Amino acid sequence: MQRYERIDGGKTTLAILLGETGAPQLLHFGARLSDGADLAEIASALRSGLRESTPDHPVPPALYPTCGFGWMGEPAISGAHEGGDGALDWAHCSARREGERLVIALSDTRTGIHVELTYAINPGSGVLSAQARIANRGEHTFRLQQAASLCLPLPSWATHVLGFSGDWSREGQAIRTALDTGVWSQTNRTGRTGFGGATLVAIDANTSDDAGRAIAVHLAWSGNHSLGIETLPDGQRMATAGAHLAPGEVDLAPGGMFETPVAYAGYSDAGFNGISDAFHPFVRTQILPANAKAVRRVHFNSWEAAYFDFDESSLIDLARAAAGLGVERFVLDDGWFAGRRDDTSSLGDWRVDRDRFADGLAPLIDEVHALGMDFGLWVEPEMVSPDSDLYRTHPDWCVQAPDASRPTMRNQLWLDMAREEVRDHIHGQLDALLSTNAIAYLKWDCNRFLYPAVSEGAPAATRIVRGTYALMDRLKASHPTVEIESCASGGARMDLEILKRASRVWPSDTTDAIERLRIQRWAGLILPPEVIGAHVGPSPNPITGRDLPMAFRARVAMFGHMGVEADPRKLGAEDREILAAHIELYKRHRKLLHTGRHLRWRTDDAAEAWISVSPTADQALLLACRTEVARHAESAPVRIGGLDRATRFRVTLCPPWPKIASRRLHDADGWGDSRTFSGEALSEIGLRLPLADPLTAWLVHLERV
Ligand code: GLA
Repeated sequence: MQRYERIDGGKTTLAILLGETGAPQLLHFGARLSDGADLAEIASALRSGLRESTPDHPVPPALYPTCGFGWMGEPAISGAHEGGDGALDWAHCSARREGERLVIALSDTRTGIHVELTYAINPGSGVLSAQARIANRGEHTFRLQQAASLCLPLPSWATHVLGFSGDWSREGQAIRTALDTGVWSQTNRTGRTGFGGATLVAIDANTSDDAGRAIAVHLAWSGNHSLGIETLPDGQRMATAGAHLAPGEVDLAPGGMFETPVAYAGYSDAGFNGISDAFHPFVRTQILPANAKAVRRVHFNSWEAAYFDFDESSLIDLARAAAGLGVERFVLDDGWFAGRRDDTSSLGDWRVDRDRFADGLAPLIDEVHALGMDFGLWVEPEMVSPDSDLYRTHPDWCVQAPDASRPTMRNQLWLDMAREEVRDHIHGQLDALLSTNAIAYLKWDCNRFLYPAVSEGAPAATRIVRGTYALMDRLKASHPTVEIESCASGGARMDLEILKRASRVWPSDTTDAIERLRIQRWAGLILPPEVIGAHVGPSPNPITGRDLPMAFRARVAMFGHMGVEADPRKLGAEDREILAAHIELYKRHRKLLHTGRHLRWRTDDAAEAWISVSPTADQALLLACRTEVARHAESAPVRIGGLDRATRFRVTLCPPWPKIASRRLHDADGWGDSRTFSGEALSEIGLRLPLADPLTAWLVHLERV
């Protein structure tokens, strides 16, 4: 007997067809179907006829295919019992509801492998979540080779994929690829989310920022994983996302169970902005920890201003200068602990360096508080330096293959977070720090790849990542108000599982605002802007060497969780004034920026435009900018997205106006503070801002009249 199931939420429906055996078939994942939609009719419309040279019982793309029974594509699950044959046959398939969740149970009676697939669609945002639990009810150990979190047959319009890549300080590279027969895949073996962010977007040939269809799949997992889209010779296409398991990493003893990470998927018929429209509210309401809802204070982070070169009194000077700009949180980066003077030592010894801080951190923290700021601290809890007391005492606590070499990266090794005693020790140190100092915030870094991912002689990448989650959870349970930032050499750990614990990410070590336009744009596909740390760096930029005007740097930083990394003591008076003014503007508009709907697009002549529109659509803040000389001297009017056409807006060009560009503004005097325009004119015809000169950034505030 066949039956149909559907789940709905937001603008999205998942509809499936189940038999009593075999894996369920996907009928639809995409635009929400009407309540009365006849799923049997949809199934019959989709049915394919006989083809030559195919199995007599056709095996269509399904939600959790295996190998061995006619499916010739990538299986969702593979593995074998000791001495077994590796074939898995879903002899039973059933479905049940658990509240809003649809749970599908599949079992292979021959081997005793049972899988439960759980799907839910968040009612508000329409984001689908999917997870698999694999249980071994057989009599022999089952070596699990692969277990997808989500397998999603793709609709025929999905002819392209947007994947993401990057490297240190080069994050946020979006790569569009036409799909053809074969496999598009990304495998990450770094033990962190990776610079690609564990996201793929299946798109049509013309999907753009604000038009076209898209299905984004994100794996909420801060470790090794594979994302892929396979196109079979007959044209059927499947997207798959799951943890990447090493051979022998998950050996399920009889009675054992493996739970995959959760994968999320969102559908849009309005381009990439539609994906953000689904994910931003979802992340805000369903993922982020409770303390992430607090007002996003303006940060000062000491790294680019001081690196390892500081003492208590220079930090107090820095804090005073930062407070003078309007900063609200002072974060002391690397170098504050146990003899750490450069990156060659001391990780693992999380006690305050008494040569730098004779009386501990209290005098600095007290001063920071007196200046009206709270205090944050950098840590890298999963790491150990070979030159550290921790390593000298417990040389076997790092991940290592017995009797093999211990290659370092940034002079450090990864602690074995799969071991409880290691976690206990690190927890004890961090707990003591947080209990004895008024620390509001931890920048939690992770500057190494995980290799060899071995714990006590066995492959353990997954267990090590789960150990880190457990450590964070324990710390958060005892210090619930402490906010955590997830940093991994910049943006290598930004995923929706770490964001259940961290309220912010550091998306890149580069603060070069031109680079940041790309980096923040693509981090912002899934993540709302308030989660994305965005700091005003020095000029010239220490990583790229580029000089950029302060207003340009500050405006780009305003569209994330704003902070400052440049040394305020070294800024000229004009720059200091411009920066302070933008910090003030950020504070004035942060509610709008952090609760609003975010859209990004390229103007008709390829300038970059970002807008945040308030939830009630009565206000918006637009950033329109260009980095290079435009091809044509006359700028195309900026057609502004997200506005209500029937509303009239008071439009203000926030000062300071870009110097050269403002000379070309029509009737600059007539602008005074502001002018009014209809939403219709602004959306449909646009506002002509002079945007032809390089490094021009206009900040435009719109308010309902
Ligand atoms: C990493 C981080 C930086 C900084 C340094 C400190 O590179 O990404 O922001 O914290 O470590 O060593």
